[in-house]
Amino acid sequence: INQNNIRNFCIIAHIDHGKSTLADRLLEFTGTISEREMEEQLLDTMDLERERGITIKAQAVRMAYQAKDGNEYTLNLIDTPGHVDFSYEVSRSLAACEGALLVIDAAQGVEAQTLANIYIALENDLEIIPVINKIDLPSANPDRVKEELIDIGLDPDDAILTSAKEGIGIEDLLERVVKQVPPPSGDKDKPLKALIFDSLYDPYRGVICYYRVIDGKIKKGMKVKMMATKKVFEVDEVGTFSPKMKPSKEISAGEVGYMAASIKNVKNAQVGDTITDAENPTDKPLSGYQPAKPMVFCGMYPVDGKDYDVLRDALEKLQLNDASLTFEPETSEALGFGYRCGFLGLLHMEIMQERLEREYRLDLITTAPSVIYNVYKTNGEVLQIENPANMPDAQQIDKIEEPVVEAKILLPDEHVGAAMELCQGKRGQFKNMEYLDEVRVRLTYDIPLSEIVLDFFDKLKSRTRGYATFDYEFNGYQEADLVKLNILVNEEPVDALSCIVHRDFAYEVGKELTKKLKEFIPQQMFKVPIQAAIGHKIVARQTISARRKDVLQKCYGGDVSRKKKLLKKQKEGKKRMKQVGSVEIPQDAFMAVLEIG
Ligand code: GTP
Repeated sequence: INQNNIRNFCIIAHIDHGKSTLADRLLEFTGTISEREMEEQLLDTMDLERERGITIKAQAVRMAYQAKDGNEYTLNLIDTPGHVDFSYEVSRSLAACEGALLVIDAAQGVEAQTLANIYIALENDLEIIPVINKIDLPSANPDRVKEELIDIGLDPDDAILTSAKEGIGIEDLLERVVKQVPPPSGDKDKPLKALIFDSLYDPYRGVICYYRVIDGKIKKGMKVKMMATKKVFEVDEVGTFSPKMKPSKEISAGEVGYMAASIKNVKNAQVGDTITDAENPTDKPLSGYQPAKPMVFCGMYPVDGKDYDVLRDALEKLQLNDASLTFEPETSEALGFGYRCGFLGLLHMEIMQERLEREYRLDLITTAPSVIYNVYKTNGEVLQIENPANMPDAQQIDKIEEPVVEAKILLPDEHVGAAMELCQGKRGQFKNMEYLDEVRVRLTYDIPLSEIVLDFFDKLKSRTRGYATFDYEFNGYQEADLVKLNILVNEEPVDALSCIVHRDFAYEVGKELTKKLKEFIPQQMFKVPIQAAIGHKIVARQTISARRKDVLQKCYGGDVSRKKKLLKKQKEGKKRMKQVGSVEIPQDAFMAVLEIG
């Protein structure tokens, strides 16, 4: 293919602004797939993605487009994930492109993620084409969105108006891609240099890498080297996406393709790494590589101890496809044998948990999420603690550092007070407040990551009536006065319930947590005290009174559906109970700390 007739672009958008629907229309219009074949939102292939309505994994598709100038163009569309947890993958997908369609909902306007995406697009020198979508909506206000474009440094006259739903503006958009997105500029005679922007595990062929060739070419039989991991593989197959994988002879500079090379684990072909020719390597890898690194950790324990091996196998399988998932065996006095697992963020954690439960039929008890603390001991030792249960005794600790993120919150000014109050309550340090226009404000705070992972986003949403959006970025470690809060159930410490909190809040958290636990832990045949303690000092106490009657008795004579409901609830509850000492503790209790504050 003539490089001048290639256009590589992506679609970036705030969640729900219509990225996937627009991609579908482009595929239809270019005849890449017929309307009949068109499954709704083809690019989001995973079931979970479809259910949650978000794109988790980046995908790519190649389209042929006959432009009005008489030439046929090859358009490579790279889809990008839509959530902050996956922002690194977004950045690599963008680095594989020359242009970006910035989709903005005509009714919602510019949102936090829209802005974040613009920054990454600009960093990658992408040509940005603003697309104002959903113009069919009665509440659409394209003129207001155009004004917002000026505020964020884009030319409103550049904007294309579309309705992905009704197929309006699609041809204009393709014409603009051809005219405005520059063709790739690599050299196919130089040594191979290709950027991996996604990789996934296929049980039959091993890892499939999705890449953009910058220089040189890649073909079957060639020995390639991953520059970060230094691993060498022989290429079994290369090809393009149409949208299914279609083998081809070679993929050369400027093109987007896939490669199978009997790679056994995605860790060996990580997003952001550079593929080169093992025999004639390029001298420098592409910049911007970051090994995947989990930020949030939790313990996962099978409800039934017999499932421990199933859980390990399942985690191993999931890890083949997910370089950022980590796990190591862990034992808890309360929960028995399980794994401490690391995730990019809470969404990532929830997705994995759901997949384990659904695809592997596991019943799991998950402990509250935690971050990694740097613990400096008085004897000079430095520990990285990701499980509160492993925190050394206070006397042995010199100081503790916690990870901090820079959070950017975008919201209408009437909600600024509520958001600031929340941030302050979460130990946030105010950094900046900017008006983007008369009503839209961007707040910047430094907030400890541990406070963010504990439900920050939901709280922000509810306090701002859903108007705020936010984004965060790791911003280093900071010393903090933290203590471990132990929880005792029936006089026994339950390690899996312990948490690390700021000293100033320890008393309050202890009080709230014991109260919540009292709600969650069902009555037993005997009285159960629940206590919170710092070291040996009890800071809060609640008591669950002994059970008197069978729950079902309450329903006799009552209406049947209610009884059924209760039984069903009990059954569900039962699955997720864990006998700890003489007390049964349900899953909810282990997450109780999420509901505080
Ligand atoms: P993520 O994958 O979560 O980032 O979302 P997305 O940006 O891909 O949005 P998606 O295409 O899933 O669309 C979100 C919702 O908006 C869906 O319910 C679509 O049917 C709807 N939608 C998309 N485009 C249009 C449009 O032009 N008009 C109207 N009325 N609705 C649209």
